[in-house]
Amino acid sequence: MRVLTIIPTYNELESLPKTISRLRAAVPASDVLVVDDNSPDGTGQLADGLAAEDSQIHVLHRQGKAGLGAAYIAGFKWGLDAGYDVLVEMDADGSHQPEQLPQLLEALEQGADLAMGSRWVPGGSVVNWPLYRQAISRVGSTYARLMLGLKIKDVTGGYRAFRRTTLEKLNLDEVASVGYGFQVDLAWRVAKLGLTIVERPITFVERELGDSKMSGNIVVEAMINVTRWGLAARWQKLTSGKSSAA
Ligand code: GDD
Ligand code: MN
Repeated sequence: MRVLTIIPTYNELESLPKTISRLRAAVPASDVLVVDDNSPDGTGQLADGLAAEDSQIHVLHRQGKAGLGAAYIAGFKWGLDAGYDVLVEMDADGSHQPEQLPQLLEALEQGADLAMGSRWVPGGSVVNWPLYRQAISRVGSTYARLMLGLKIKDVTGGYRAFRRTTLEKLNLDEVASVGYGFQVDLAWRVAKLGLTIVERPITFVERELGDSKMSGNIVVEAMINVTRWGLAARWQKLTSGKSSAA
């Protein structure tokens, strides 16, 4: 399996080197793609420096801050074009511990189409995450589960490993959501295809350096989208039920 770990960055100068060196040590076989949105703090140049020293590190430079979702879509396309078998999502700030990546890769080897790191299954946890963030995450996950009929517990989690065939079945150009909404959007698309999603417990460690880029708008966008998708799915079920009865 050729593995590519995609790390989106916006102003992660302090965190990125440590995360990449931990990843290279924990899973030496994985190549790395940093997707930088022209960070004003010079993260992109720093990543170029790391890439110059290590042929397994690559950098995709984008023009400006266009959101986590757009960065991942660009990274997925790059990785699919380059022929990788597995594409991993990982935050730059150390919240997703590289040492836990083998557990996600193992789930894929055992047949999962998408392996998700999960804070909200037995064995999963969060470290140093403020109570309000935990509350938003738990309430958001529960709402999305109920609205969309998803079985996974950590719907917004951003530590994931996709089989390339899973991404090839999605129409990536259709995915427009950003932030948490992007994570829910992808999980929902994979679930609708009837593919196998497996959750593995992770310890999510809140960043020590730099600032979160998530905002209230992103939470609201996610809630509105989940409501729309859930209602649309119910409507579709209702109307298709009618036509088959007729
Ligand atoms: N290229 C790019 N462009 N990267 C971005 C952008 C952007 O517009 N916005 C955020 N990022 C990068 C950050 O630099 C970081 O590497 C990663 O995306 C996650 O951003 P954070 O700001 O650290 O997010 P968080 O810790 O609040 O949220 C985490 O938890 C959420 C809830 O579970 C992430 O794992 C999210 O993916 C997850 O939905
Ligand atoms: Mn973070």
